[in-house]
Amino acid sequence: MVEPHGGVLVNKVNDEYWVDEKNMSVELDAMALSDLELIAIGAYSPLEGYMEKGDYLSVVEKMRLGNGLVWSIPIALPISVKEAQRIKPGDTINLEREGTIYGIMEVTDKYVPDKRKEARLVYRTEDIGHPGVKKLFDRGEVYLGGPITMVKRPANQYQEQNRGPKETRELFQQRGWKTIVGFQTRNPVHRAHEYIQKCALEQVDSLFLHPLVGETKADDVPGDIRMKSYKALLEKYYPKDRVLLSVFPAAMRYAGPREAIFHAIIRKNYGCTHFIVGRDHAGVGNYYGTYDAQKIFANFTKDEIGIQTLFFENSFYCEVCGNMASVKTCPHDKKHHIALSGTKVRAMLQKGEAPPPEFSRPEVAAILIEGMRMQQASLQEMVAKNE
Ligand code: ADX
Repeated sequence: MVEPHGGVLVNKVNDEYWVDEKNMSVELDAMALSDLELIAIGAYSPLEGYMEKGDYLSVVEKMRLGNGLVWSIPIALPISVKEAQRIKPGDTINLEREGTIYGIMEVTDKYVPDKRKEARLVYRTEDIGHPGVKKLFDRGEVYLGGPITMVKRPANQYQEQNRGPKETRELFQQRGWKTIVGFQTRNPVHRAHEYIQKCALEQVDSLFLHPLVGETKADDVPGDIRMKSYKALLEKYYPKDRVLLSVFPAAMRYAGPREAIFHAIIRKNYGCTHFIVGRDHAGVGNYYGTYDAQKIFANFTKDEIGIQTLFFENSFYCEVCGNMASVKTCPHDKKHHIALSGTKVRAMLQKGEAPPPEFSRPEVAAILIEGMRMQQASLQEMVAKNE
């Protein structure tokens, strides 16, 4: 079994911990709550808490923790200036969201980050048109660092698909899988995704389909609708004994190349030996070059990353070839390639139109159309109630 990043799978879950309700508390946003959970269940091993300034700066500037281990995305706890006035290193604070205490934190550091620098180095832009950068600037001005304990696991609707790294590692072992390729996605699985997953499946024992279901930008397809579409797809088109579907409860940063490294290392913690990086992984708009998320891995040795990356070219259906392909395998002109932008597909689905079957399996399109119809209906109902 592949070693977790840094050698030990972290476990900071303790639901018997006695929480002192008199402690000061901090209200977590959705991203901070998902970070708390992911630290506690070991997905972010070796992190045991939110980052202190030393690790934070080293990650921002060098893509490494203070001890030299590769880490590409800062994980600190932002709080407001007002909250910062009453919290100091040495305090134990309760971490709450909407009236529920999910964890506690021993505050060991409090610092003011240079967010413009964080934006420039992590996101490669300071433009607030970038959803990750906007989020970064919208969050609190002061960061807290220090170890955490999770006392209650945030609930989600995914039940048996909601497995932590400990459980997935056990399952991989039980099933006798030696080589497992991890697949990150925040989208429905279209034919291009299916193609690269199956190319990978030709090489390894199994596929770990690990869709991100935490916070995403408003126009991404919601996690619950996507989960239905993944199940329908797996049911009909994938070998059941070679695939595991589980949710990844993280928030999306849209940090492209930096997030690709982060995603790979986390999937190693879940027990994967291989990880797929295709075109514009975790990208948004035109902020990153098509293959920047592949190129960034050249900054590190294979041992430092510890999971084998599988890189894929932009894939599409070619009408002349009559199958899925990429420029590596198809000699035909672009005009024969069926490739639709996310915006175009969303517009079609919203109108109740299915994209061509060469782009998306009809079973997937049907679920997405129905999901969007229900979303619009509940939106209209909400508007009507408030009128
Ligand atoms: S994201 O989390 O990386 O933003 P997305 O669903 O867009 O999710 O992509 C999932 C994975 O599939 C990424 O590794 C991405 O690079 C790859 N990918 C998506 N579309 C294609 C495509 N047409 N050709 C090759 N790789 C693709």
